[in-house]
Amino acid sequence: MEALILLGAPGAGKGTAAERLVARLGVRHVSSGDLLRGAVKQGTPAGQEAEGYMKQGKLVPDELIGRIITDLLVAGGSQLKVLLDGFPRTVAQAEMLEKVVSAQQGRLRGTVLLEVAEEILVERLAGRRLCPKCNAGYHVRTLPPKVSGTCDRCGTPLVQRTDDTAETVRQRLAVFRQDTSPLIEWYNSRGLLKRVDGVGSADDVTERIVQALR
Ligand code: AP5
Repeated sequence: MEALILLGAPGAGKGTAAERLVARLGVRHVSSGDLLRGAVKQGTPAGQEAEGYMKQGKLVPDELIGRIITDLLVAGGSQLKVLLDGFPRTVAQAEMLEKVVSAQQGRLRGTVLLEVAEEILVERLAGRRLCPKCNAGYHVRTLPPKVSGTCDRCGTPLVQRTDDTAETVRQRLAVFRQDTSPLIEWYNSRGLLKRVDGVGSADDVTERIVQALR
């Protein structure tokens, strides 16, 4: 198993770049946020536990998301090449990942940090729209659909994420600064961190990530 991590604040463009990197790098995209939103939608026990934290812009407990990701990595077997988006988000989660990668005799290929200034993050999250059916992502200004408010791929009306309100975004950014930013030094000290400028077109950012990993 080989794991690659996309690290970055809410709105840094992790999901947008990951969609494009799947074909470029031949990896499977695993988004912890998408997995949790799927669990909430299905009303599973994990989803019921996670929902309150997510609505408030707080992190779900490490054990909850750790179990979901660990099970998925173990089930993927030795041939799995995975791009982790949104996990790990705390040092405890990074330790869980290190453990499962080593138990599977896999390797951590690297951690890409997408760097974007906070005022741009806020603008990106305010303008984000999603397709509730096929999960395609848009932005009202920088990545608009061809027909306003409608998914290009499947014609479904687009929606806004419930945690993209101004107040919840402020909370998510504060959580990133406090709980997730220590991971930058954690991976840097292990020689695994690649810093990438996350400002520019989505295709340019994707290309920078590919180059940083060479
Ligand atoms: P999650 O879904 O992971 O949200 P997040 O990390 O806050 O990240 P986002 O999805 O908001 O942003 P992104 O970086 O993917 O940006 P995107 O590409 O969409 O987590 C949600 C919640 O789940 C958490 O708050 C927590 O409760 C829980 N959770 C998840 N993982 C957890 C974990 N490991 N531990 C505990 N709890 C966890 O882009 C944003 C917008 O910008 C889009 O509109 C896009 O079109 C636009 N955009 C993107 N790139 C560009 C570009 N280059 N130029 C212009 N616009 C761009």
